[in-house]
Amino acid sequence: MTLPKRVKLVEVGPRDGLQNEPAPVPTEVKVELIHRLQDAGLKVIEATAFVSPKWVPQMADNARVMAAIRRKPGVSHPVLVPNKKGLDAALAAGVEEVVVFGAATESFSQKNTNCSIAEGLARFAEVCKEALARGLKVRGDISVCLGCPYEGEVRPEAVVRVARALDDMGCYEITIADTIGVGTPGKARTVFEAVMKHIPAQRLAGHFHDTYGQALANTYAALECGAATFDASVAGLGGCPYAKGATGNVATEDVLYMLDGLGIETGVDIVKLIAAGEYICGVLGRPTHSKAARALTAKSKA
Ligand code: HMG
Ligand code: MG
Repeated sequence: MTLPKRVKLVEVGPRDGLQNEPAPVPTEVKVELIHRLQDAGLKVIEATAFVSPKWVPQMADNARVMAAIRRKPGVSHPVLVPNKKGLDAALAAGVEEVVVFGAATESFSQKNTNCSIAEGLARFAEVCKEALARGLKVRGDISVCLGCPYEGEVRPEAVVRVARALDDMGCYEITIADTIGVGTPGKARTVFEAVMKHIPAQRLAGHFHDTYGQALANTYAALECGAATFDASVAGLGGCPYAKGATGNVATEDVLYMLDGLGIETGVDIVKLIAAGEYICGVLGRPTHSKAARALTAKSKA
């Protein structure tokens, strides 16, 4: 089996990471973090979410973040959009790419977006139609693909159904998310293979939270399936406000260290990435969750 030669890393720290912070993070800090991440060579940086500020107050400064980002050629800044209201606000803020986010279980869909899977898909169809007509790109995320905090085991067919619906709406990429980090590599492989019967691996992405320490192994399993796009969060920041106990995404530094070791190109500079992680951890007053960042920093000081 051959692994991809190149991988696209999608940095989700400014959104998935900072949406979960108990204290508000100043807009200037979010913007500085995004600038440092783009200087490290990341080409896709999820910047913020146009969701209800009552549900996720941490993302309430979405328009200010978008207005302050220094655009760099070749770098995109997708934003989460749950409905038409979010799309309108995102369009007013000048975004070029939106992310609709559904779930593989009814319970998670209700907790995260206050609607059923079918209602969510109907909203996304409306968002996709208008976004595509205006020349935007649309990505589709699916939560709880490898396990649900409310329903436990998730059948691959449940993921396939939502993936096919997002594909039919015109999402260019579909993200298989392990929201609570319970998946193991065999399960990740089974779900990717089930979805790949309908959508080619090159259009799938992995989004693995690292709650149980399985995220890198799951990433490798998805790489073996042919996936070449992975979401990750600098310093392993994050979690989901509607998935209690779930920790952050796999650290971008750790995924990059693994990919560098495999000789897979990403265009990302690990030294600059680690510095971006140090910056945000310094502001938040906590140590990094990235083992590679910790080890490489200790080595550089030895
Ligand atoms: P709702 O309460 O059912 O919505 O929430 P509503 O239509 O009844 O509206 C209620 C209020 O929200 C109204 O304001 C609306 O105007 C306002 P009021 O009249 O009370 O003043 N509103 C909005 N305001 C700003 N932007 C909007 C918007 N929509 C409505 N877009 C809704 C439904 C979907 C809005 C809500 O449930 C929501 O915002 N959910 C988002 C939750 C979220 O952001 N979760 C975290 C991101 S997903 C994630 O982390 C998973 C992921 O990383 C993958 C993985 O790991 O699984 C992507
Ligand atoms: Mg997530």
